[in-house]
Amino acid sequence: MIIKNIGCLVTCAGDFPKLKDNLKDAGIIENGYIVTKNEIIIDVGHGDGYKKYLPEDDFVIDAEGKTVTPGLIDSHTHVVYAGSREFELPLKLNNMNYIDILNAGGGILSTVENTRKASEYELELETKKRLDLMLSHGTTTIESKSGYGLDFDTEIKMLKVNQNLNTKHPIDIVSTYLGAHAVPKEYKTDRNGYMDFIIKEVIPYIAENNLATFIDCFCENGVFDTNEASKILLAGKKAGLKIKIHADEIESVGGAELAGKLNATSAEHLVAATDAGIKAMAENKVCAVLLPTTSFYLMLNKFAPARKMIEAGVPVALATDCNPGTSPTESLQSTMTFACFGLKLLPEEIINAMTINAAYAIGMEDEIGSIEVNKKADLVIFDAKNINYLLYHFGINAVNKVIKNGSIVVENGKLV
Ligand code: NIG
Ligand code: FE
Repeated sequence: MIIKNIGCLVTCAGDFPKLKDNLKDAGIIENGYIVTKNEIIIDVGHGDGYKKYLPEDDFVIDAEGKTVTPGLIDSHTHVVYAGSREFELPLKLNNMNYIDILNAGGGILSTVENTRKASEYELELETKKRLDLMLSHGTTTIESKSGYGLDFDTEIKMLKVNQNLNTKHPIDIVSTYLGAHAVPKEYKTDRNGYMDFIIKEVIPYIAENNLATFIDCFCENGVFDTNEASKILLAGKKAGLKIKIHADEIESVGGAELAGKLNATSAEHLVAATDAGIKAMAENKVCAVLLPTTSFYLMLNKFAPARKMIEAGVPVALATDCNPGTSPTESLQSTMTFACFGLKLLPEEIINAMTINAAYAIGMEDEIGSIEVNKKADLVIFDAKNINYLLYHFGINAVNKVIKNGSIVVENGKLV
């Protein structure tokens, strides 16, 4: 396949993860072309250099001056769940906060109830609909967390949905075990019992059956504290899982510091991360996965200190946090909007943060995340003449085509 006449080819090529001022360099080629073969990119350049591949490679797409980026990577999602939580909206508007809703049996625990009731088949169908939306909005790879089961069967059911959809759906899925998302009601008076169950029963089974790559923990006041998080995450690490942490989402609890100490792959949210936490992350190259739609949706009136993190040398990625409570959106284009107008990141920084740096956040930087020879042919053609235009015209789906593993899977914004 040849894609020619690309007005703005955003390659995101070069050293990774992109740090500090390098994050502003999205490797843009004007009037570019891409040649792919057998699911892989075999040439990238500008002008009519593609002509040497004619006529045998005669499948030519004329991008008509549009913008092309690497397939977007959503490095933090809770996309597997049943039901919805629109009933929380009036509660929020009446100033009930997130942790109070959770402690009153709502929030995560109400989704847990619905997810436990759903069969694996029903859960797969609901999740597939969301993956379709993700794909049609330009996402080609995601990380997907468990954490709405909390009991053994439902957590495994969620991870199996990831595994099945990874083979059935064009989107590639990397799995994370998030048993430590909340303490379930059956352990309400026995937190240590729940942690023991995670450590002794669930983690060994998941590791043995290759059901997850990462382990995660919601480290927050009223959920799991840093000692508890540390215990759970280290047990996961010992079993061969890599570490992610929901850290300092609402209050500064030392989550970013813990991420540095444990040499985590990533720490996520970080709205209330401290300067010491940012320093610990930079020193240990822990990726910050920022979720600006969540700050907006929780009405925090505050966004993560993205600029400070970038200046300190922390690798920064962006993701949707797609979930039924704090960020009910499948669209990384919504994330782009809030990254620009909330986090005040530049368009180049935003695209790097949801491609090459997001690949780094899920350990796939050798295969995806940039438009370079030998990488996977995962590409998005946006109906925009440049990346400033892509950020400027908001609230619509700007996708023209999505190419996954070298095949067109979305055309004019619709699945094919
Ligand atoms: O990333 N913070 C914890 N987990 C999710 C929210 C899950 C929910 O409310 O259902 C988050 O915001
Ligand atoms: Fe999350």
